[in-house]
Amino acid sequence: MQRDTILILDFGSQYTQLIARRLRELSVYSEILAPGTRAESLHARHPRGIVLSGGPDSVHQRGAPRCDPKLFELGVPVVGICYGMQLMSHVLGGEVKRSGLREYGQAVFSPLASGALFRGLPPRSRVWASHGDDVRKAPPGFRVTGSTETNPIAAIENPARQIYGIMFHPEVVHSEEGSKVLANFLDLTGCRRDWNARSFVEEASERVREQVGPKGRVICALSGGVDSAVTALIVQRAVGARLTCVFVDNGLLRKDEAAQVRKRFAERLRLQVVFVDASRRFLKQLAGVSDPERKRKIIGREFIEVFRSSMRKTGKAEFLAQGTLYPDVIESVSVRGPSAVIKSHHNVGGLPKAMKFKLIEPLRFMFKDEVRKAGLELGLDEEFVHRQPFPGPGLAVRCLGPVAKERLDVLREADLIFVEEIKAASLYRKLWQSFAVLLPVRSVGVMGDDRTYQHTIALRAVESLDGMTADWVRLPYELLARVSSRIVNEVRGINRVVYDVSSKPPSTIEWE
Ligand code: XMP
Repeated sequence: MQRDTILILDFGSQYTQLIARRLRELSVYSEILAPGTRAESLHARHPRGIVLSGGPDSVHQRGAPRCDPKLFELGVPVVGICYGMQLMSHVLGGEVKRSGLREYGQAVFSPLASGALFRGLPPRSRVWASHGDDVRKAPPGFRVTGSTETNPIAAIENPARQIYGIMFHPEVVHSEEGSKVLANFLDLTGCRRDWNARSFVEEASERVREQVGPKGRVICALSGGVDSAVTALIVQRAVGARLTCVFVDNGLLRKDEAAQVRKRFAERLRLQVVFVDASRRFLKQLAGVSDPERKRKIIGREFIEVFRSSMRKTGKAEFLAQGTLYPDVIESVSVRGPSAVIKSHHNVGGLPKAMKFKLIEPLRFMFKDEVRKAGLELGLDEEFVHRQPFPGPGLAVRCLGPVAKERLDVLREADLIFVEEIKAASLYRKLWQSFAVLLPVRSVGVMGDDRTYQHTIALRAVESLDGMTADWVRLPYELLARVSSRIVNEVRGINRVVYDVSSKPPSTIEWE
């Protein structure tokens, strides 16, 4: 069965991914493609509708991204958003006035009642509008369907050809009626609304089943996080016992984590997991190492070695399942080309190409929130699917200075207390990350009648949307007081607790 799909051409707006997410929230599958994708390849995908995203350029600029003009002849409803509307106006014979300026801001939008995209909208609503180039004259056959205080042509349509344009971003929350506008567009396309957790789990496993065939065997490395867990469960659904998972305990996990993984995955979810306790080996290699990048390199290298030797227990497999998510895939089709943002530190846990596996990536088309929903559908518990991110090199990069078992144990205790209190205050799910860091700093304190000279724990709690930027969280003083006093009283070797009040940039989220 062909799934009803909306295709989004990405002209480089920071909000393009949001368009896809909003449409999927409205239960319609959507995919993001490169801006210049040829009309024939768009047609070959049988889209029910096409969205032209916003973008930072001016249509008059040399090298500004273009679309294939033939896409307007496909007979499929099209909506252009900001740059998308300017581009369609330009291509279809309207007039776009150059201002060269590219800014966004609040505006009040007044739709014309008869505008098909604006059914059910109030006479005025707040929108997040583009204040760049203006469409001076709508293309022939189009009429104006909305305005703002400063822009008399803020929306256009050609109902006969089912082409629409808006000069605001319906995908951002600042546009009050944005969801309704997108829903109206979906109604115009006649899309079935059947994209939900169940259907995407089914589709993803169907795809894996086809890829692996009747005999293929698959290996999946579990990190203890959500993405690899959902990957494994989808593959399990597709090929059953022909999947073997590997979980490497590198000695850098949080308190009780290895035991929890065993319980959750092997006992409850009945995944076949080969557990490798490699903690001694990792810690031996890390002994005395303080440099953050060296720590990461050693951990990456050891992981590959341990994984390689675990293959003796898992048996041969030609396929490797990985939890790559859609945002990573999108980066490679974006206007800017394969992303310039190289996540050098996201390489821990990666396996060398020389291992010659065929890759299976069942989450390739999913956003994180969809992965969470899929996880619930597959039987994972709420607490697990809403876990905060945890870095591949684990506590090694939160144990500043040399990594050693005793120091890691101290850090584990302090971290557990902090997270316990954050959860008790119902803050855990609101925060991007909250964790403890052990500093290689000793300071003087008093306990009872004794002078102490002990270590320091730094607490870090940040809010973020994607980890690229972050702000420190204004935690209540009472909560900080409770955590501090518990840590100093309950964790041996700590006599001082500090709270990190730095944002990213210029700091990073992790301390190393
Ligand atoms: P930074 O510290 O760069 O972190 O602001 C951004 C996000 O990435 C996570 N992080 C890592 N994840 N391997 C990972 O898998 C790493 O080496 C690594 N370093 C940082 C970090 O926890 C945060 O969510």
